Amino acid sequence: MSKHFEIIVGTMLGASEYVADAIAEKLSALGHSYTIHPEPNLDDIKTQSTWVVCTSTHGAGELPDNIQPFASQIKDVSLAPVQAYVIGLGDTSYDTFCFGAKQMEKQITDNGGTLLADALFIDVLEHPIPEDVAVEWFEQVLAN
Ligand SMILES: Cc1cc2nc3c(=O)[nH]c(=O)nc-3n(C[C@H](O)[C@H](O)[C@H](O)COP(=O)(O)O)c2cc1C
Repeated sequence: MSKHFEIIVGTMLGASEYVADAIAEKLSALGHSYTIHPEPNLDDIKTQSTWVVCTSTHGAGELPDNIQPFASQIKDVSLAPVQAYVIGLGDTSYDTFCFGAKQMEKQITDNGGTLLADALFIDVLEHPIPEDVAVEWFEQVLAN
């Protein structure tokens, strides 16, 4: 059955956007529809749908600037209808590895949302082309 996906992007340098684009391409190929949100705003994002959050981590374990307003917006709302996948990009040389994605994961589940799979945390040191790992993982979790 085809579904609609909200692809929510947190990026400073563009790598997570490449991952989002690759996920979108895969969804299209499988007959699903999607909206990519490069400047995510809860007003435009349905909670009655499946979210794919692709975000990196910057600063000292912080979310990228473009997704911070969204993280604030979801603090005080019920996310009970949300079903989500979380993909984090980070660098294991930081002891705050993927803290941004971990924050999103926690906020979604704390507010009643469901994670459809354990989050994927990609170490860009090990995987210089993170979209390849992300798409491979996504195909598997979608099939489950
Ligand atoms: C200034 C700076 C700070 C970073 N801080 C972290 C961090 O705290 N934790 C982490 O896992 N990765 C950190 N990274 C690595 C980025 O998350 C990683 O390079 C990622 O691929 C960037 O994705 P983007 O292009 O979507 O922003 C940092 C990178 C930079 C340049």
